[in-house]
Amino acid sequence: MNDKPEFKRYTVTSALPYANGPIHIGHLAGVYVPADIYVRFLRMNGADVIFIGGSDEHGVPITIKALQQGVSPQDIVDKYHGIIKKSFEDFGISFDIYSRTSNPVHHETASAFFLKMYEAGQFIEKISDQYYDEATGQFLADRYITGTCPHCGSEKAYGDQCEKCGTSLNATDLIEPKSVLSGNKPVLRETRHWFLPLDAYEPWLREWILEGHKDDWKINVYGQCKSWIDQGLQPRAVTRDLDWGVKVPVKGAEGKVLYVWFDAPIGYISATRELTPDWEKYWKDPGSKLVHFIGKDNIVFHCIIFPAMLKAEGTYILPDNVPANEFLNLEGDKISTSRNWAVWLHEYLEAFPGKQDVLRYVLTSAAPETKDNDFTWKDFQTRNNSELVAILGNFINRTMVLTHKYFEGKVPEIAALTDYDNATMEEMRQIPGRIAVSIQGYRFREALAEMMNLARLGNKYLTDNEPWKVFSSDPDRVGTVLNISLQICAQLSIVAEPFLPFSAAKIRKTLNLPLFSWDEAIKLNWLPAGHVLDQPALLFEKIEDPAIQEQVKKLLDTKLANEAAQSKTPMKPGKEAIQFEDFAKMDIRAGTILEAEKVPKTDKLLKLKIDTGLDQRTVVSGIAKFFNPEEIIGKRVCILVNLDPRKLKGIESQGMILMAENPDGTLFFVTTDEGSVNGADIK
Ligand code: 2FM
Ligand code: ZN
Repeated sequence: MNDKPEFKRYTVTSALPYANGPIHIGHLAGVYVPADIYVRFLRMNGADVIFIGGSDEHGVPITIKALQQGVSPQDIVDKYHGIIKKSFEDFGISFDIYSRTSNPVHHETASAFFLKMYEAGQFIEKISDQYYDEATGQFLADRYITGTCPHCGSEKAYGDQCEKCGTSLNATDLIEPKSVLSGNKPVLRETRHWFLPLDAYEPWLREWILEGHKDDWKINVYGQCKSWIDQGLQPRAVTRDLDWGVKVPVKGAEGKVLYVWFDAPIGYISATRELTPDWEKYWKDPGSKLVHFIGKDNIVFHCIIFPAMLKAEGTYILPDNVPANEFLNLEGDKISTSRNWAVWLHEYLEAFPGKQDVLRYVLTSAAPETKDNDFTWKDFQTRNNSELVAILGNFINRTMVLTHKYFEGKVPEIAALTDYDNATMEEMRQIPGRIAVSIQGYRFREALAEMMNLARLGNKYLTDNEPWKVFSSDPDRVGTVLNISLQICAQLSIVAEPFLPFSAAKIRKTLNLPLFSWDEAIKLNWLPAGHVLDQPALLFEKIEDPAIQEQVKKLLDTKLANEAAQSKTPMKPGKEAIQFEDFAKMDIRAGTILEAEKVPKTDKLLKLKIDTGLDQRTVVSGIAKFFNPEEIIGKRVCILVNLDPRKLKGIESQGMILMAENPDGTLFFVTTDEGSVNGADIK
């Protein structure tokens, strides 16, 4: 393996999902399949690697769900921990441990971590006013309070965030705050909390991330970190007035727990402690490479807050990389639990039993590695039928069937090698190295495409050499062609393992081979002449239209139900007819947002730098209520470029971004399909 030689072992973590609902394809595509590919690859290289997962079982959404259902928070997490754990097992996510943060070992670990920082004077203790529900006698943390968002006017904003416009809030920012518990207007009461002074870590974070990881962290991750740091970091409260969570282990903190985002990442450490008594080497030895697989909404916690905690504690290593993915959309729309706009993993398996690898394959091919990407059922069907069935499955099946037909299922001898044979084998030698480089660079789509290139190579080799036509005249040639084809099958059984573990195991069974190490993937002679093969197995089968139509209909029903709920807000009336010439006067181009920042002293405006294909220009756009600057960097947009420039808050705006506005006022970017370039003329 070609990795930096200084690493002796790998500590690979994947985000701990909240145990308050099942998981969907977005989770799998963004975090768990890439992490699993990486880890399976490392294991095949003989690396000392641990793969950590678990459920995040604290936080207010869980206690609220318990309250709504009239059960205890423990009941909620027990139920969903089981469902989530099973989904991961079903899809072959090969954790070394899948733990949970309600375990005692986690409470001990998180508590000790806090205490060490506390005793070293690393928190600021502050008394501040917080909302309190007099009817129930409780402080109202985070989502226990709702009200009107001061930014976008949504009446369903929470005390920590408005889900409609995405802004992080303090409960005291809300207009007309209301207690979720009693519905009453809360009162302000003094309470004591502990804050992590993130501002004090700013110089170090600048050096460690902005200078130290400029070249090896993904652009989307680096860009978000830069934007957070440049906006100025503030102290963040790490405790809450709640009774569900890890108790704050200091005097005077009765009735308080650690903030869920303080304890959750420590869950990675607790899980390692649970896994092995030798846990410290994975977390404290600089020879260990720590990699966090997460989605983009977790970047700030894993790149800024958790590293600041690790640094403050003082004895831990820091992440070497955080290869966060963007989001996977579903049929053009954001995946949403509340709108049931998702493909749930347990439901997928009911509809497509045994087809775990098909989903792993499609989600890796369409992984949102550098930008948000879309899952469509049509694409799912095409990739299954035209790639897995027609290329990979077809090649292996043809090779096996022909060997059984002509050589009684035994590997034939190689007679004489042609130039074509030698060129094919030379190509085979290159492929494992290329896959390895892509996986080590966290480019899993590229790695998968290389794996499929091997199947394509095999398919073409077999088709070009047409062994079925020459058996009667030249059986030796057929023997050679099938020998080489079988070696390609054997190589596929090795290099497909990280991506398609269930199918790779089936191929190995058919070939009667064990799982070889990655180093052995370049050998080319895994199957000696005379080696007895098993019967061919069905690897992939065609997915017919009705199965796809059923899934599309299911989503359509969901969409109609959601729209019916929305339709209470009337559409804007249509406008007067215009001439084509009026439309043609507008010069609209595809572009990309390069930079985004809030315009000071306004809550509506963002200053954007756009690559229009013609130039790079500044546009001031009234979208700040709906989008955080760091989220939209890299976004593909449509821009009206020949609008007269005008000044907004002293900044010259040189164009207008096209947006779609729902009847309820929500804004969406108008964008272009993949393949369009900056500057493409929109007409
Ligand atoms: O976003 C989430 O689903 C969080 N529960 C992720 C936590 S990751 C880690 F910090 F535990
Ligand atoms: Zn809002």
